[in-house]
Amino acid sequence: MKLVAMALLVTSVRLMGLSDTTSECLKSLLKSRVISCSMTSMSLEPPTLHTARLRLRPLGHSDEDALFRLHSNLEVVRYWDAPAWTDRANATGFINKVHRMADEGTGIRLAVELGSDQTFIGWCSLDDWNPDFRSVGLGYSYVVAAWGYGYATEAARALLLWGFENLDLNRVQAETDTRNPASAHVLEKLGFIREGTLREDCIVNGEISDTWVFGLLRKDWFAAQG
Ligand SMILES: CC(C)(COP(=O)(O)OP(=O)(O)OC[C@H]1O[C@@H](n2cnc3c(N)ncnc32)[C@H](O)[C@@H]1OP(=O)(O)O)[C@@H](O)C(=O)NCCC(=O)NCCS
Repeated sequence: MKLVAMALLVTSVRLMGLSDTTSECLKSLLKSRVISCSMTSMSLEPPTLHTARLRLRPLGHSDEDALFRLHSNLEVVRYWDAPAWTDRANATGFINKVHRMADEGTGIRLAVELGSDQTFIGWCSLDDWNPDFRSVGLGYSYVVAAWGYGYATEAARALLLWGFENLDLNRVQAETDTRNPASAHVLEKLGFIREGTLREDCIVNGEISDTWVFGLLRKDWFAAQG
């Protein structure tokens, strides 16, 4: 069975025109069961991760109500690159997109809940995975009641560790509105370096804003972990 899957992977890699190095990297990921593949695409298996206070688990349609409350909250989306949700169908579309990301192997987005009582507090993601460049984007959003307890940093640290170990990442990129100091501080606590500013990058509801680009490199991550 493993041999069949391996043959399929090699064929998929050829079809996608990926390099030999990427092919080797993907073969090792297949062995570790993080990815699986068909003739035309690879999928990612969203993990369940545990930290001291949190559980990160795959998102599902049962999370739609909580997601709708989160993304329709004006305080939460104050510095978001999209307007607040006004239609619950947005939540269904969000979950469909999460499943598509995993199926197409472009990223994973996990629900974050309190380990003590499984209360949903937000989500955290690795998206735009590029196996050739070994790069990915980091994103997150949390309910207001959960802000200020270090949860965003704790969850992102666990997901980054998973990504560096399982996707063989070399670079993680994150972007924040320049007026969002809490998010910038989360990234700095994780070891990200602020690399530049995208001027007038977003226009949401007619409001123009600048974006900071942050990057975290594999060598810096592992050096910081000791
Ligand atoms: C940004 C966000 C994820 C932070 O979540 P959180 O769980 O409160 O983050 P943490 O507690 O891990 O860390 C936040 C840090 O920012 C600091 N902080 C909070 N507000 C701040 C402000 N106005 N100015 C400067 N620092 C601030 C906190 O003190 C904390 O630092 P500390 O641990 O050194 O005290 C959360 O506010 C959120 O979900 N916001 C809405 C969605 C969003 O903006 N997502 C990010 C898009 S890029």
